[in-house]
Amino acid sequence: MELRLPKDFFMGAAMSGPQTEGAYRTGGKLENIWDTWSDLSISDFYNKVGSYVGNNFYEKYEEDIKLFKSLGLDSFRTSIQWSRLMDQDQKLNPEGADFYHKVCACAKEQRIELFMNLYHFDMPAYLFRKGGWENREVVEAYATYARTAFREFGKEITYWFTFNEPIVEPDQRYRDGLWYPFIQDAKRGMAVQYHLSLAHCLAVREFQKAKEEGFLLPEAKIGLINCFAPPYTKEDPSPEDLEALRMEDGVKNRWWLDLVAEGRLPKDILETLKDSGLLPDIRPGDEQILAMGRVDWLGFNYYHPSRVQAPREKFDQKGYPKYADAYVWPEAKMNIYRGWEIYPKGIYDFGMKMKEEYPNLKFFISENGMGVEHEDRFRDKEGQIQDDYRIEFVKEHLEWILKAIQDGAKCMGYHYWGLIDNWSWNNAFKNRYGMVEVDLAGNYQRRWKKSAAWIQEVIRAREQEIS
Ligand code: FCB
Repeated sequence: MELRLPKDFFMGAAMSGPQTEGAYRTGGKLENIWDTWSDLSISDFYNKVGSYVGNNFYEKYEEDIKLFKSLGLDSFRTSIQWSRLMDQDQKLNPEGADFYHKVCACAKEQRIELFMNLYHFDMPAYLFRKGGWENREVVEAYATYARTAFREFGKEITYWFTFNEPIVEPDQRYRDGLWYPFIQDAKRGMAVQYHLSLAHCLAVREFQKAKEEGFLLPEAKIGLINCFAPPYTKEDPSPEDLEALRMEDGVKNRWWLDLVAEGRLPKDILETLKDSGLLPDIRPGDEQILAMGRVDWLGFNYYHPSRVQAPREKFDQKGYPKYADAYVWPEAKMNIYRGWEIYPKGIYDFGMKMKEEYPNLKFFISENGMGVEHEDRFRDKEGQIQDDYRIEFVKEHLEWILKAIQDGAKCMGYHYWGLIDNWSWNNAFKNRYGMVEVDLAGNYQRRWKKSAAWIQEVIRAREQEIS
């Protein structure tokens, strides 16, 4: 297959505020939940690198945006940090706003389309102390934050997103207990998932209001970004395996897809949750809120598929039903550094699912990338990292995307995750994703890896085709 990118197909980079900015105490920025965890237990972070540093985007945003331009990229996603934009009284922090105005102005000057996301796992600490996403007051606070952002930057940004991967916090923080505050409670996880859904809908409502009131550009669009792991089970499944597949797909994928495409949550899933004692606290009036969740388009972060089978044990340690266990496919090709399966065809299968089940919803690949440990091993004599594995990874994924488009998927673009190495939560800088290296010991200096020149060529080839 040849890599011929279609016309009008976004090619860009994805990153986030909390993973890049650093400057965690500059300009009135409040403590966020990552700072809290870093302060509490720095040894939980790889090489004891906490939330404080990012990749110094706060200082280097101009250089970075110019770098995107030089690679030929047309778009770039980052996120506003709630804890930078707003103060403790839920009012705008002018110094924080000033930073994002500068980012917007620079992107405009470089003619890079900015995709702005509002929340990327970065709850302000004072709201976390009030119960975080378990508390509906915090859902309201998020709506206030979204309203403030739409009004403040409405004339500077076309592409808005409410959340990145709302699936992650319920799992990592509340169900599997892997991230601070390390809770393992399916019921609390479900409450968080539900409140995130309401928060998304309230932000969409604020977006529509801001549009009606003339605060936004007429062409402004709102979207949601999630990591949809296309689910698979064994080749010869039992009815129990198929039930595991239904719940895995239902809770993790259909939940969000139905919400953003149809303005409701999947009925069969709510019923099963009810039978299991896991139904969240759905209040009168919520249905109307959920109905507002429809978006203009969807961001699909794709790293790996999800393979499941019937659970070995029926209940977890709290007595809630277990829906599925992981299934290790004997033929899986693994990214051993991150422990994620590499399965490029999953991106195509998702495209076909969208075509069949949500034919009116456009989407783009909002993240895809490969994190590798100890990339130093791959330096050539001139010191450049020869990341051929990354080139192969991206090429294979782009090929399957192009095939999906040929077969009718409405895929509008591709953003490479972490184009410049950045801070990956508690893994910090363990696995490097970038096509551009960041020298942590050398003042965060940026250096192209081999894949940077490769992606530049792929984009150039498209330009030649257009002209
Ligand atoms: C995704 C997150 C992103 C980054 C990549 C590696 O799940 O959205 O912030 O950490 O994984």
